[in-house]
Amino acid sequence: MVRKKLIAGNWKMNCLQAEGIALAKEVAAKVKAQKFDCDFLICPPFTLLGAIKKCLRGTKIALGAQDVHFAEKGAHTGDISSLMLTDLGCTYTIIGHSERRVDHFESNELINKKAVAAHQAGLNTVICIGETGEERDAGKTIKVCQDEIDGSVPNDATAKNTVIAYEPIWAIGTGKTPTAADVEEVHAAIRKALTKKLGKATANKMRILYGGSVKPSNAAELLSLPDVDGALIGGASLKAEDFINIAINSTK
Ligand code: PGA
Repeated sequence: MVRKKLIAGNWKMNCLQAEGIALAKEVAAKVKAQKFDCDFLICPPFTLLGAIKKCLRGTKIALGAQDVHFAEKGAHTGDISSLMLTDLGCTYTIIGHSERRVDHFESNELINKKAVAAHQAGLNTVICIGETGEERDAGKTIKVCQDEIDGSVPNDATAKNTVIAYEPIWAIGTGKTPTAADVEEVHAAIRKALTKKLGKATANKMRILYGGSVKPSNAAELLSLPDVDGALIGGASLKAEDFINIAINSTK
């Protein structure tokens, strides 16, 4: 099964306007300058989405948000709806990132609800899962991932509207990564859990990204693994050159 790789940047809570626009323009120019056999996605903070959409015109880079509320509209102070995101030109949103699960106490149930609402509004989701260092040391990685797939991924998920990102929490922003063998083992187990939940045809087509300290120097190894279909990149997506080099190295 050939799954086109997705190279996704999660800018997190970084970049004021001038910085963000300059970064998006640089990424756009680099993507336009050569042929890539992968899809691109960048997920800036909400405040930059409108401005960055303009910078991405004429490129094949998709625009995504980093979270979404499950309600269509109404009394939810500080929240953003799927329709607000599609209205700005977003085609994706990340949901269930560990920083939201931890900082905002988001449960699998809530993430599932957000995914259903996003899909109904025509927004694709990148649903994040992954174990803590403690869970890993206790040998619970696969069980945690299976439970998160079970709980967070809605039954309406298709290979088109859903991308899974496996992000071991202990590898995020730390410079540490699991071994290639560990990554492949977990990704294969995630695909198995998806097969159980959504059926073989969907699971085989669904992209499973790896995230956690991806950089140009480890991209080739991690992204050549059979069940790794791209990367969700935090820190390294804030440097256009690193982001593009990850794409180059991962599709070699
Ligand atoms: P990192 O973050 O690449 O900085 O480790 C990845 C993520 O949290 O999506």
